[in-house]
Amino acid sequence: MMEAKIETAETQNKAPRGVRDILPDESWKWAYVLNVTAQTMADFGYSEVHLPIFEHTELFSRGVGDTTDIVEKEMYTFVDRGDRSVTLRPEATAGMVRAALEHNLCGQNVSSKLWCWGPMFRYERPQKGRYRQFYQFDAECLGLSGPVADVEVIALSVEIFRRLGLRNLEVVANSVGCPNCRPQYRKVLIDYFTSKKNSLCKTCIERMGRNPLRVLDCKVPNCGVVADSAPAIYEHLCDECAAHFEEVKAGLTRLGFPYKLDKRLVRGLDYYTKTAYEILSGDLGAQNAVCGGGRYDNLSESIGGPHLPGVGFAAGFDRVVLVMEQQGNSFGKRPRTTVYVVAQDDAARGVAQILTHKLRMEGISAEQDAGDASRGARGFKAQMKSANKIGAAWACIIGAEEMAQNVVTVKNMTSGEQTSVPLEEAANYIRQQETQS
Ligand code: HAM
Repeated sequence: MMEAKIETAETQNKAPRGVRDILPDESWKWAYVLNVTAQTMADFGYSEVHLPIFEHTELFSRGVGDTTDIVEKEMYTFVDRGDRSVTLRPEATAGMVRAALEHNLCGQNVSSKLWCWGPMFRYERPQKGRYRQFYQFDAECLGLSGPVADVEVIALSVEIFRRLGLRNLEVVANSVGCPNCRPQYRKVLIDYFTSKKNSLCKTCIERMGRNPLRVLDCKVPNCGVVADSAPAIYEHLCDECAAHFEEVKAGLTRLGFPYKLDKRLVRGLDYYTKTAYEILSGDLGAQNAVCGGGRYDNLSESIGGPHLPGVGFAAGFDRVVLVMEQQGNSFGKRPRTTVYVVAQDDAARGVAQILTHKLRMEGISAEQDAGDASRGARGFKAQMKSANKIGAAWACIIGAEEMAQNVVTVKNMTSGEQTSVPLEEAANYIRQQETQS
């Protein structure tokens, strides 16, 4: 086994390269995006599932494809204590199909629409919008082979982005054919690339024979020029794939979605058949895909299952949030603490503690000065400062006078207005005021 690098003092208290913490200033935005996504998935008939973060390595090598970058270079694979090779999931589709097979979710004439979200792991070169642990929301429609399902999946992704207010997006589509027509196209492509061999990079020359379609999406500028003039796969489709593609395009037009054909779009995963698509953002720079997907009618068989057609997409959570921030989109209202309970003196602290808990039990978010071991409880001014700092809408102040009369002084932190309210009524009063505002 390879000797692991020892962390130095400089790095040991830092997250590993390419992974990051999503802190409170950002996490509330993620909650908003997730809510909108979950609602849209439900509106399109998708049910949420939670899948394992790691799977047998074989699921990905067979499902995603041995010659893909993901399987060749990017997987986090390790041998567990039971001597099994397992891999942190680099994507969700293979796991979703595995789960559908394992639990018999798609019988004869029974389809399943499933979605999930969570972290994925790829050992890629980190840069803006590209991480080694990143998050996806992923939708898979299993058991349907017709083009209506493809259009519905694309429509679902477009609708999520519409609800999130994303602008400046472009849908790009292609058909990558099927095992009937692809071998013929591979030949045409290999002939073409062989004639241009001198202009291709080393990796492409190596790849050309094994997986010539991958040369089409090489990012090296010279290879791009060669690929731009390569024969288009959609001119070499078999009748079935051609008819399917025509129907997908007609469906997109019917729904009023503009799209661009991109003959170089082959996607980095080997399971695709027929439709492949991406949604690109004009605001992301090099890593401009916010979403990618397509049809994968043979994935189930490649992992040892029966024939089970499928089509789906995954969107990059991190990238979606990034674009929304850059475009100044709304994430709704940032949740804030409604009430800060202030004890004017030590005698009032017990009542403050009870009131804070009661407010929370009533579903009103409340905070109090909990003190700490080194400096103990804080004074009135410091507590009011905290109320301001956390953006509380109300302060509930309890001092000797309030205790004597069994009331609480409720201060509106925006207007500064104060009202005396019976202690028992504090929650009701705040709730009423909040619904009026
Ligand atoms: P993918 O194109 O590899 O497809 O990933 C989908 C999306 O995940 C990308 O468009 C991007 O937004 C995001 N993404 C990918 N890698 C990273 C990264 N390193 N850092 C940040 N975001 C990233 C799939 O994963 C397929 N399973 C999609 C699919 C579902 N096809 C059919 N069903």
